[in-house]
Amino acid sequence: MSQFIERLPKVELHMHIEGSMEPEMLLQLADKNKITLPYADLDAVKAAYNFADLAAFVDLYIKGTEVVCDAEDFYTITMEYLKKCHQENILHTEIFCDIRTYVDRGYAPEMVIEGIDAGFKAAYQEFGITGGMMPCFIRHLGAEPAMQDLDMLLRFKDKILAIGLAAVEVGFPPSMFTDVFDRVRAEGIPVVAHAGEEGSPDYIWSAIRDIKVDRIDHGVRCLEDAQLVEYLKQKEIPLTVCPCSNVSLNVFERMEDHVLPQMLEAGLKVTVNSDDPAHFGAYLSENLTAVQNHCGVTDQQLLQMQQNAVDASFATPDRKAELHQRLAEI
Ligand code: ADE
Ligand code: ZN
Repeated sequence: MSQFIERLPKVELHMHIEGSMEPEMLLQLADKNKITLPYADLDAVKAAYNFADLAAFVDLYIKGTEVVCDAEDFYTITMEYLKKCHQENILHTEIFCDIRTYVDRGYAPEMVIEGIDAGFKAAYQEFGITGGMMPCFIRHLGAEPAMQDLDMLLRFKDKILAIGLAAVEVGFPPSMFTDVFDRVRAEGIPVVAHAGEEGSPDYIWSAIRDIKVDRIDHGVRCLEDAQLVEYLKQKEIPLTVCPCSNVSLNVFERMEDHVLPQMLEAGLKVTVNSDDPAHFGAYLSENLTAVQNHCGVTDQQLLQMQQNAVDASFATPDRKAELHQRLAEI
């Protein structure tokens, strides 16, 4: 990793907490909670972290969450990730979590929300890291569970930064979720959605028009539609791009094929993120290093993308000013 990347103050806006569970953590929690996993040992878990596409990944990812059984487990995995953030000079991070996965197993949503919230409080005390959580609706389960999830989430409105839309994309456009996101926005809660990861530009248009997103997660397929690129640029809609995830899930064959340079060239408000760092073997700094080494992204562009991330974040105006100041001092 370059010295510039090491000392660059960083902001992450797209990271799923369950996707930060390293194989060792998976086995540790399985042991604690007496869960039998279909893996004989650490090497078997590592070998399983190899995916043909998003659907195959989501399937394995959701199975892995079976080892997370109480608020203490959520606290443990959140702290583990936030310690890594501290090591990487990530000053602010906004992370995704699931609710439905656990509710369907008979757990209360407090387990997720309270566990993660306690992790953020401790990391703020210990490291000064800010941020918070963005629960996601699981799109391939349809709109009805999402509506029930929202009823539950409204009890914790003060603890959430935004609500997102994730999991299997193709076949489940944002337009299916118009009613539930109308309610989300009416509650004054920001909206983000995975769109244009595997899905066509129509999914990005739908995220904009039908659920009125504040940010697009991924969005790498926007370049296939010149009008869409122009719209994203004019409206300065942020895109949380996850380069190593895209290569791991075969959205692009090689890092050299990634469209991040074209997105920057088009003047889009792009940020770089890790998505599921344990599964894809790359935390934020490794993603930054990959685009620098394989896509020709310059130090100046890396800095610009951190400034974009501060602007695109849900941090308070005071915190945004502090983060911009830190970036100005590099
Ligand atoms: N959940 C975790 N990672 C995801 C991704 N890359 N796309 C959609 N849903 C996800
Ligand atoms: Zn994601």
